[in-house]
Amino acid sequence: MNQKNNIDHIAVSQQSILKKKYIQADLFKHISHLLKLKNAVIVAHYYTSPEIQELADSTGGKVADSLEMAKFGQHHTAKTLLVAGVRFMGETAKILNPEKIVLMPTLKAECSLDLSCPEIEFSKFCDQHPERTVVVYANTSAAIKARAHWVVTSSIAIKLIDYLDSLGKKIIWAPDKHLGHYIQKKTGADILSWHGTCIVHDEFKAHSLYNMKKIYPQAAVLAHPESPENVLALADFIGSTSELIKSAQSISQKQIIIATDRGILFKMQKACPDKILLEAPTSEVGMTCLNCGMCPWMKMNTLKKIINSLTHDTKKHEIHVPKNLQKKALKPLIRMLKFAENFF
Ligand code: 13P
Ligand code: SF4
Repeated sequence: MNQKNNIDHIAVSQQSILKKKYIQADLFKHISHLLKLKNAVIVAHYYTSPEIQELADSTGGKVADSLEMAKFGQHHTAKTLLVAGVRFMGETAKILNPEKIVLMPTLKAECSLDLSCPEIEFSKFCDQHPERTVVVYANTSAAIKARAHWVVTSSIAIKLIDYLDSLGKKIIWAPDKHLGHYIQKKTGADILSWHGTCIVHDEFKAHSLYNMKKIYPQAAVLAHPESPENVLALADFIGSTSELIKSAQSISQKQIIIATDRGILFKMQKACPDKILLEAPTSEVGMTCLNCGMCPWMKMNTLKKIINSLTHDTKKHEIHVPKNLQKKALKPLIRMLKFAENFF
């Protein structure tokens, strides 16, 4: 390419970036107007795309981890909660706020952990161990929550299991086997675990991470506890998405390798602009990466789908939880929120 062509090329790409920005600004304005009309607020997860996170922030909503999303939805005065995340997050919002309308950009945004734990099999498993306290991760359906004594998110799991262990309780844990194993190791509690995995975190590879650490010997590793045990063994800090962002801010190392969905990098980089953030590897020699550190369901949330959910087809976007399930699932969720008050 000669110099003139090169300059033309740069000018065209700058124009298209500007055009994109104008379109986005228009869309934000339009959505903000729709949110006001519907008395709605956006609650988004850190794994959604940067534009969704910017939209949530700029319209008075919240970008957060699962626990904070639940708390924000519960305390906000809006009549409608627009949950940009995956289905279990919308269901959690509805269980906690049955009087509110809960919309999602798409009801097809699943979670592999939720899918790994079908109600009938899980119920049988619990029935076989009636002496055990059933603790389930928030990444489950309303039916699984309704079967549980406690619900937890990654930010409160260790604290709660520690507490139950101190009372001499034996635990059934579901659905994430890596998180279950991590909690068991940390607390020494008697845990019988379900065998689910997160298709995103399960892809992080310890051997490649080990090699990456040789290239960046000064770098710290931060990992979400849904990652495999050998990946967690290489981590300097393990925590929920919010805790990982806080750790990136406070940790002394300038270079940080992150083993969680890359959506988190948007807020993390804002929180610590001076740090160099690197994505943990999801492939090894001779292997192809399946998900590449990206939750396919979280990325189904788009601006267009948000507009759809607030205009036409509202019914196609609304979360419903049958009354009997809502009432049962509310109890372990409220227990978690009350327990969390002691710490946050
Ligand atoms: P957090 O509760 O840490 O935000 O995790 C939710 C999740 O789905 C992680 O994969
Ligand atoms: Fe579920 Fe994994 Fe996606 Fe989190 S990242 S929502 S655990 S599939």
